[in-house]
Amino acid sequence: MDIKRRKLILGGVALGAVAGVAALRPKVQGQGGHSDYFSSVSKALDNAGFSGPTLVIDLENLRKNTDILTSHLNGQYDYRIVAKSLPSLNLLDVITKRTNTNRIMVFQLPFLQQLVKSYPDSDILLGKPLPIAAAKAFYSGRRAEYFDSTQQLQWLVDSPRRLDQYASLARSVGHTLRINIEIDVGLHRGGVANGEELSAMLSIIQREPQLEFAGFMGYDAHAAKMPGILGGPEKAISRGLDIYQSRVEQAKAQLGEAFPKAATMNAAGSPTYQLYKSRAGRAPCNEIAAGSCLVKPAGFDIPTLSDHLPAAYIASPVLKKLSQTQIPGIEGLTGPFNWLNPNREQSFFISGGYWKAEPESPKGLSINPIYGRSSNQEMLNGSKRVLLNEDDWIFLRPTQSESVFLQFGDIAVYSKGEIVDLWPVLGNT
Ligand SMILES: Cc1ncc(COP(=O)(O)O)c(C=O)c1O
Repeated sequence: MDIKRRKLILGGVALGAVAGVAALRPKVQGQGGHSDYFSSVSKALDNAGFSGPTLVIDLENLRKNTDILTSHLNGQYDYRIVAKSLPSLNLLDVITKRTNTNRIMVFQLPFLQQLVKSYPDSDILLGKPLPIAAAKAFYSGRRAEYFDSTQQLQWLVDSPRRLDQYASLARSVGHTLRINIEIDVGLHRGGVANGEELSAMLSIIQREPQLEFAGFMGYDAHAAKMPGILGGPEKAISRGLDIYQSRVEQAKAQLGEAFPKAATMNAAGSPTYQLYKSRAGRAPCNEIAAGSCLVKPAGFDIPTLSDHLPAAYIASPVLKKLSQTQIPGIEGLTGPFNWLNPNREQSFFISGGYWKAEPESPKGLSINPIYGRSSNQEMLNGSKRVLLNEDDWIFLRPTQSESVFLQFGDIAVYSKGEIVDLWPVLGNT
């Protein structure tokens, strides 16, 4: 092969490689600054004097979500609020009033202690089996005068061993402890998994005069994500309800008259609650637990919640804007890196960061995977199309509410262009 020809081939290969890499470059994202909605939230935060990372709840969307939930339940199931996913007394207040429920599902001892004081007329079901030390602490601490735990509280228990512990606690406190038994309906996280275990637990309740059977709880988080090849969500719910039904029949047969007429038969969660609609009247459960769907974090963008609206955002101010993205130690590669990914052309360092959250507004922002995360001053990148200045707010959407809501102090409540309230979160009140 002559030299000229070789050069031609090599040149062609090099050109092809560059064209290939260029074709792989991500599309340029970003369409300017904030939408009208986020501009309005920004203005409201500025007017109210906010300066640091803030959890914002959109009151109108929260109300709309609450009405959507109520319309799906259609009076066919009672509603129990999942407090861990909505961890603020003021937030719970809006929801209890709008849904007209006093039923709350609680997961932590501090929440339980605060709730019985703030809502002495609530009906509380524990959402997980708490170690006996937590139950002991509850009874030894100061409780609300008007909250009658022998009527208004159900401890969740899912094994004979733990039930024995609760039995001895009931003997030592000298009054009734109401017990709700968790059923494993397919999630395999907890709950009685077979008839023998349930029978053993019911026998303990039968022989302990201070224990009262209050009902069942079967949580089905696995169902919403069940792939079609394994039967999909509908089949998973049906399977779970068959298990539920057989446990109810077993308990009725064993307890006879002692099976309560108004037993609490709790089921579901945000991802699955709408799948219970078509089963109303046939399903063995009579109440639905849900919380996250009322604020709809990004992790709940799923088909079964398509009619719910996002109602919670993290707002954080831009502290520093740079017109390039430099990675320490490889500053020389800044140009090629920016060319390879035009969405890294600009960097924005925000106050705080590293939350369980996804950039939301302005569109086109992303976390830099090479630079690293920071909970003090996180770097976000965007193309030149992203219009954002220092001191502007950026917005992220939490992927979940339960832990994220607790990280910012008081929640800023946004309604119709203004911050109208500040809601302390549970644990800090
Ligand atoms: C027992 C139980 N019920 C219901 C839920 C549903 O909560 P959410 O609606 O916030 O997803 C959960 C969530 O973890 C749970 O553990």
